[in-house]
Amino acid sequence: MQGWPHGLGLRRYETLDSTNEEARRLLKDGMRGPLWIVARQQTAGRGRRGRVWISEGGNLFATLLLPVAMPLSAQLGFVAGLAAAEIIAAQAVPAEVKLKWPNDVLLNGKKVAGILLEGLGEDALAIGIGINLAHHPLDTEVPSISIAAVTGNPPDLDGILLRLASAMTAWYEIWAKQGFQPVRKAWLLRAAGLGRLIRARLADSERQGVFEDLDEDGALLLRDSLGALTRITAGDVFFRP
Ligand code: BTN
Repeated sequence: MQGWPHGLGLRRYETLDSTNEEARRLLKDGMRGPLWIVARQQTAGRGRRGRVWISEGGNLFATLLLPVAMPLSAQLGFVAGLAAAEIIAAQAVPAEVKLKWPNDVLLNGKKVAGILLEGLGEDALAIGIGINLAHHPLDTEVPSISIAAVTGNPPDLDGILLRLASAMTAWYEIWAKQGFQPVRKAWLLRAAGLGRLIRARLADSERQGVFEDLDEDGALLLRDSLGALTRITAGDVFFRP
């Protein structure tokens, strides 16, 4: 593809079960990345926390396979979120594009993109990104939206893929050279719910408090009504407690 970042692999498919699953297979076959895997449709798209990601043709389904160790995966989720938010914001001017902890992109307050990080063995990571270009699911717990619903037309798939890969490469290089700090700062500038009362659903409990900050590892810092600070590393966030 013309303009595709140098040194970055690209494999495109008509239909896959899941681009993250294909990353797992390719790694087994000896491929290490960096490699983008893109499908027009997925038959078994998956979301975070065991959820299904409805994968109708017309949306973007892509995974970046990277030779990166698992402990760094959380930080790279923020790198990917920033890259996705930037390109969505460029498409949907002047709509509001925000990031919802940990890795969702919101367009006018509704979910337009999601990211699924999967560690593959000790030193490989799959960063799966789904962007609602043309369609969005109805009746989701967190309301969804597509870019087309805001602009009237779905953006061109190849154009979006190229911009996403370029933005991801640019942010990855910032992260690799300067560490998490610039990523954290840029992420906070787009953070939804920062300084507000939120609810965090964890694996087996719920917490309520003010979303105070993002720490050095990307954990959400929640201040409860008694003044105690909790560090949240995994969960779902809701803005209406
Ligand atoms: C979420 O918000 O729950 C994460 C959704 C991630 C969806 C993408 S689509 C491309 C890649 N392949 C998958 O099966 N899932 C991710």
